Amino acid sequence: MVKKVSVGVLVSGSGSNLQSLIDHIDQGALDAEIRLVLSNNPDAFALERCRKHGIPTVVVDHREFASRELFDGRMIEILNAAGVELVVMAGFMRILSPEFFRAFPLRIMNIHPALLPAFPGTHVQQKAVDYGVKFSGCTVHFADEGVDSGPIIIQAVVPVYDEDDAESLAARILKEEHRIYPQAVQYYAEGRIEIEGRRVRIRNLCRTTEKAAQNPPLTIY
Ligand code: GRF
Repeated sequence: MVKKVSVGVLVSGSGSNLQSLIDHIDQGALDAEIRLVLSNNPDAFALERCRKHGIPTVVVDHREFASRELFDGRMIEILNAAGVELVVMAGFMRILSPEFFRAFPLRIMNIHPALLPAFPGTHVQQKAVDYGVKFSGCTVHFADEGVDSGPIIIQAVVPVYDEDDAESLAARILKEEHRIYPQAVQYYAEGRIEIEGRRVRIRNLCRTTEKAAQNPPLTIY
């Protein structure tokens, strides 16, 4: 029996990754309890999702704070008061201060819609299309003080097709986000994550297939 990990989810927008976490918990596939969802945006649709599921929410509007440090200080207080062990960023559109990282050392996860370290930052699906990569994907990683730079926990790869635009690629990637984020949190709940420098190892893992993917496909053998 795995002890449930107490999670605080940070959101700013739609919250489809939050929804996936909720659904996995409801299906018994994720040993987590969402103690709190914190949004910096009072109009985030993610808050509506919480109402449906009876999940406590707090809005901390960054515009009401004189500095990033004060805003982050308030979030730290709220998350600690709720007994949050793991902070899960799910489309949270604010940069966090060093103080926040000190408050939750290696206990903050983020999801990014590209195969890091390629395409950190914003508008990355458009950047992937413009660059002409043949594969992109998503990355769950521990957040650190850099931009999308912390140790990588799990990645999923999707093909980029000739006819793709940012929107179609984002939709393909998002489907995979919804699969890998709950899995990363579950690895954490099971106490299977070991971190050594940049390298994250998951204990007792069976290997993924070694079969390579090619895009476009090979027509000669
Ligand atoms: C996702 O693409 C995630 O990778 C990025 O922000 C988006 C959030 O989507 N960090 P949602 O709010 O979970 O639907």
